[in-house]
Amino acid sequence: MPHSPLDDAALDQLFRAARTFASTHDTWLDRPVSTDQIEQIWALARLGPTQTNTVPARVAWVVSAEAKARLIPLMDEGNRDKTLTAPVTAIIGADLDFHEKLPYLYPHADARAWFEGAPEQAALLTAWRNSSLQGAYLILAARALGLDCGPMSGFDADKVTAEFFPGTRIRANFMCNIGYGNRASLRPRNPRLPFDEACRIL
Ligand SMILES: Cc1cc2nc3c(=O)[nH]c(=O)nc-3n(C[C@H](O)[C@H](O)[C@H](O)COP(=O)(O)O)c2cc1C
Repeated sequence: MPHSPLDDAALDQLFRAARTFASTHDTWLDRPVSTDQIEQIWALARLGPTQTNTVPARVAWVVSAEAKARLIPLMDEGNRDKTLTAPVTAIIGADLDFHEKLPYLYPHADARAWFEGAPEQAALLTAWRNSSLQGAYLILAARALGLDCGPMSGFDADKVTAEFFPGTRIRANFMCNIGYGNRASLRPRNPRLPFDEACRIL
C-alpha cells in the first residue's frame, strides 16, 4: 500500500507551525525531556537516508549540569542563556572514521574499502554532508515527537570537538537545543523564498 499524504495537523507540527527556538530572546518552558524521549528521537532520526548508509553522525546529548558547564563557555555569547536553560543540547558530530562501521551498516558489499585511505577532505565531505542531513532528520524527529528545536552553529567548533569528542576523528558539526519552546518569546517568522525564486523545473 502506498502511503497517503500526512494530514494538515501533522504538516503544521513538522513544518508550518514549527519554529526555531534559537534567537537570543527565545526561552524554554520549564518542562523536562526524558532519556526515553532522547532515545526515541534517535530511533527515528537514524532511519533517514545517508550515502552508502554511512550514518556518520555521532551525537553527544548534553543533559547534566556538569556537562552543560563544560559546554557553555565554548558557545557564542548570544547562544549561552538558552543553551543553559534547554533541557537537552544535542551536539551533532561528523565521524570521519565512519567507514569502520560499514561492514555492519552496508554488509552486501565491501563498502569500507571504497572509503578507506581516502584523503581527509573526501572523508570530511562525506561525513559533513551526511551528518548534516542526519541533524535535519533529528530536528524533524524531535518535532514529530512534539518537541521544539533550536539549532545553533554559533560556538567554537574546535574546542567543542576537543572537549566532547576527544581521541576520535569526530568533528562537531552543529548543535541543537531540544525542549518545549515558549511560543510567547518568538518573533514573527521570517519569510522563505517562493518557488519561482529558489527553484526551476527543467
Ligand atoms: C544549522 C543552523 C545553525 C543555526 N545557528 C544559530 C545560532 O548560532 N544562533 C541563533 O540564534 N540561531 C541559529 N539558527 C537559527 C536560524 O536562524 C533559524 O532556524 C531560522 O531563522 C528559521 O527560523 P524559524 O524556524 O523560526 O522560521 C541556526 C539554524 C540552523 C539550522
